[in-house]
Amino acid sequence: MVMQAIPSAADLEQAVMQALREITVGEDGPDLVKAGHVAAVAATGGAVRVLIDPRHVGPDAGEALAEMLQQVVGGLPGVERVVVKPRPQPVTPILEHGPGAVLAVHSGKGGVGKSTISTNLAVALAHGAAGRPLKVGLLDADVYGPSAPHLLGISARAETTQDGSRIAPVEAHGIKVMSLGFMMPHGKALAWRGSLVDEGVPPLITEVDWGDLDILVVDLPPGTSDVHLALAHAVPIAGVLSVTAPGQISTDDVRRGLEMFADIAVPCLGLVENMSTVTCESCGSETPLFGSDGVQQLERETGLPFLARFPFMREVLLASEGGKPVVLAHPEHRFSRAISELARTVATDLVPASAMETKGGAQCPFH
Ligand SMILES: Nc1ncnc2c1ncn2[C@@H]1O[C@H](COP(=O)(O)OP(=O)(O)OP(=O)(O)O)[C@@H](O)[C@H]1O
Ligand SMILES: [Mg+2]
Repeated sequence: MVMQAIPSAADLEQAVMQALREITVGEDGPDLVKAGHVAAVAATGGAVRVLIDPRHVGPDAGEALAEMLQQVVGGLPGVERVVVKPRPQPVTPILEHGPGAVLAVHSGKGGVGKSTISTNLAVALAHGAAGRPLKVGLLDADVYGPSAPHLLGISARAETTQDGSRIAPVEAHGIKVMSLGFMMPHGKALAWRGSLVDEGVPPLITEVDWGDLDILVVDLPPGTSDVHLALAHAVPIAGVLSVTAPGQISTDDVRRGLEMFADIAVPCLGLVENMSTVTCESCGSETPLFGSDGVQQLERETGLPFLARFPFMREVLLASEGGKPVVLAHPEHRFSRAISELARTVATDLVPASAMETKGGAQCPFH
């Protein structure tokens, strides 16, 4: 059997551009690239994203162009999937700068460990995991089911600052925390929708006395909700971490979330896999809970790096349920060491050179 070589992303992009240069606008107009109809082409694995420029494509021509691009690009060797989209339109947030670099933690599905990872990451960053203690805030933006109070063992209620002008975040485990859970009766969920989200999310940044932070970790609700967009409209998001669990991997869900951020030009730093394996307590061997095909597929389809992988560990469950961050309860635990490593990667990507050496963040493949 003759194996077909998989083209590199650069080769694929070049082949797509070449094909598009052979298609003219009208009978003898300029080609699609020269005419500015296609703004960019990005390949990741076999997935090709073609960004069209709505300024040059008439409002009625967009659909026909997208259909034609699907056909032409989809027929090229090595192309497995084609996404045709308008080029990203960055949003202009209410605040030009956040209280610190905003890191959004999101997932396609619920219950994959976003809140556990967000809280432990925030605490680890504050306790020097990235080389020196950073000033860290944690915003529990899961307005539908806030969990930071439970995971951090906080029973305090939100208070105003001394002059009564702003909301004071609760300080716990070395970080400043804000959660709607500090304002709601215990165990109650909110039915937040549309305009309530648009009006309710920005104050969690603008009305809270965060002070000067190095980094604000934002724990988002799962999926692609109004909260994500409301956050992006409130403050510039410096980067996104996408958390997945193999058993719940739906590559479509993860991709939808990443594409939503890509559409508003928010970069993603990479993927975090949680609850991938379970460790045998007597022999220490690792058993994959659900196989690893989904993970590989996700890596291939998104082209994003996996920045961390966390096994399912009883200590994590018990510490979280007990309201103590694992990184403090078991600082030498494997989970805590992996969180520290993730903290270093994130801080190196997002925290400016005044706090530590910087390196360029991984570019979102959808841009
Ligand atoms: N690596 C792990 N090992 C063991 N238990 C874990 C691990 N990660 C998370 N958990 C547990 O799984 C449950 C769900 O985690 P968590 O609340 O962090 O998920 P989530 O993605 O924030 O959920 P939601 O989408 O509902 O907000 C919690 O009970 C948590 O303690
Ligand atoms: Mg959560």
